[in-house]
Amino acid sequence: MLKRFLPYSRQNIDSSDIKNVIQVLKSDFITQGPNINRFEKEFAKYVGAKYAVSCATGTAALHLSCLALGINSNSRLATTSITFVASANCGEFLGANIYLADIDKDTYCMSPTSLEKLLKKNKIDVVIPVHMSGHSSDMEKILKLKKKYNFKIIEDSCHALGGKYNNHKIGSCKYSDISTFSFHPVKPITTGEGGMITTNDKKIYEQLLIYRTHGIIKDQKKFLNKKNAFDKKNVNRWYYEMIDLGYNYRLTDIQSALGLSQLKKLDKFTFKRNNIAKKYDEAFKKNKYITTPKIRKNVEHAYHLYTILINFKKIGKTRNEIMTELFKHKIGTQVLYIPLYKQPYYDNKYKFNIKNFKNSEYYYDHALSIPIFPDLKIKEQNYIINTINKVIS
Ligand SMILES: Cc1ncc(COP(=O)(O)O)c(C=O)c1O
Repeated sequence: MLKRFLPYSRQNIDSSDIKNVIQVLKSDFITQGPNINRFEKEFAKYVGAKYAVSCATGTAALHLSCLALGINSNSRLATTSITFVASANCGEFLGANIYLADIDKDTYCMSPTSLEKLLKKNKIDVVIPVHMSGHSSDMEKILKLKKKYNFKIIEDSCHALGGKYNNHKIGSCKYSDISTFSFHPVKPITTGEGGMITTNDKKIYEQLLIYRTHGIIKDQKKFLNKKNAFDKKNVNRWYYEMIDLGYNYRLTDIQSALGLSQLKKLDKFTFKRNNIAKKYDEAFKKNKYITTPKIRKNVEHAYHLYTILINFKKIGKTRNEIMTELFKHKIGTQVLYIPLYKQPYYDNKYKFNIKNFKNSEYYYDHALSIPIFPDLKIKEQNYIINTINKVIS
């Protein structure tokens, strides 16, 4: 029996992370200090984007992105049915109408075919593909649709930091306007709570900065009320201007210091996740009740999640029974995600037609995410494999 419980994912914090955080705690600035800028610069450099804006959470990153693109109550937003609620909530916050595309049956990401069906019938303003589990969405096809139907793209990259598409790092925005990330502890790197937005568009970047801090600007060249702003020719030392309605969505210096030291280890983390995935692929290949994740040729997976599809009917056990059995063996599993159209809020409001979600239905009936995180020991991996192959037989 194992010494520790193995969740489906968890953070990896070492002494260098702790040292970095303590340094900030002992410094003069624990909220708005120099690490924020450093983290943003390093992050932008890592993913290969021009700009990076840190923020409080992945949800805040999506909300800010919608604000920066001018999404409002006249807008239409399309995302995928298998995702965390935040991918759609960001539009709801602004009163936009939400549309859902089905997923691709192999990658569990947004199906471009299903998206085009929506685009043919509705003028969609923004599309949010989700790089599910860390596998990139089919961005070439989605970009082609953008050129045909004219919409903005926000990649929900919360699962996919460390991954690549066509040799471009996720977050480079080569196929999108904006890319968003989460640093929740189960994600590829963590800052506790935290988020990041990347873009190559200066105007979007500037809007993101404004909305992140209450709608306030401090750049004297941009002040609207010159009379209040200036004393003779000098700017008043206390002066700032609120030019729009924004939020306090800032990341702290403490979190940024943790993010910086986590970012240094990201490639190592991704490598370890990929090794675990390879081992699982091999080990479950022989189990006829299990389907392992597929990966497209032009994708380097970040493996935030390792999700198997299980034929529950054939083995005569429900998913809940299997989860309970594995839990008793100290193996944590999770179902990621319940389709958005099944959530009472969305079901009541939009009455989505379940017939449009054949692949999502299949996925939801069979999916189970099993433990994958960088410090999962070889012994633990073998234990998981043996236990799962015993329980699912
Ligand atoms: C796909 C996806 N989008 C958005 C979010 C929101 O991120 P956060 O929890 O940091 O707000 C998450 C986090 O669970 C997620 O998995």
